[in-house]
Amino acid sequence: MTAQIIDGKKVAQERLAAIAQAVSQRRAAGRKNPCLAVVLVGDDPASAVYVRNKKIACGQVGFDSRSHEMSASTTEAELLSLIDSLNTDPAVDGILVQLPLPVHIDSQKVLERILPHKDVDGFHPYNVGRLAVKMPLMRPCTPKGVMTLLEAYNIDPVGKKAVVVGASNIVGRPQALELLLARATVTICHSATTDLAAEVASADIVVVGVGKPGFIKGEWIKPGAVVIDVGINRQPDGKLCGDVEFNSARERASWITPVPGGVGPMTIATLLENTLTAALMHDAN
Ligand code: GUN
Repeated sequence: MTAQIIDGKKVAQERLAAIAQAVSQRRAAGRKNPCLAVVLVGDDPASAVYVRNKKIACGQVGFDSRSHEMSASTTEAELLSLIDSLNTDPAVDGILVQLPLPVHIDSQKVLERILPHKDVDGFHPYNVGRLAVKMPLMRPCTPKGVMTLLEAYNIDPVGKKAVVVGASNIVGRPQALELLLARATVTICHSATTDLAAEVASADIVVVGVGKPGFIKGEWIKPGAVVIDVGINRQPDGKLCGDVEFNSARERASWITPVPGGVGPMTIATLLENTLTAALMHDAN
């Protein structure tokens, strides 16, 4: 079997077009453009690229974006004070603090300072908790983007065995909650899992986000499984690759996401969807 490709770039473009249309309608109704504030602390090159792509995407759909680029020596108190001012600024609908933050700043404290209704990353414990109790509001962008991809390709998780590899706050944990909400039977694997190969081999749907090139071997994949690769790793030759051995996994899977062009574009599209949701909530209050 050779898997069919799940084209995240195409699905993301469709979502962006729908958001742009919603923004035009808002403008025609006399409402302001949704506005996303993006905060970058320090000079991590990968973070700078992600932030730039998020700002470009805002422009593509007609959102306003505000950029707050702060030096690596910014104190926690300075960052918290910026968040406080963005929380109370009526022009700002969504706030995104790019991670990772410099080590002298307590990331969790910063994320918890963002008003939950402006938390377009969905990382505030309030929003994670809402997802856990089946009442999602702001949903973490990458896991929600994965669910949007599954839906776009009519891949129904109900009753399927889903295995999530990686238990991070950004990907693995919320991904497991999303798949559970979609009524899959979910297993989360992490660095203490004793037989990863056997867990992966049992999966109808496998979602991998660990940040290690080729970590998941193609031969582990159950024939006909759906493989979603969240990893984005830069190889020595400069090319990007995922966490799954793509060529060998493709020979066994029914559907597979490429890297690049799979999950990555969906993360940004979902961020914009969340920002539009935040703007609509803002209107209502
Ligand atoms: N760093 C890696 N992924 C993400 C993300 O989805 N949001 C933020 N804010 N930072 C990240």
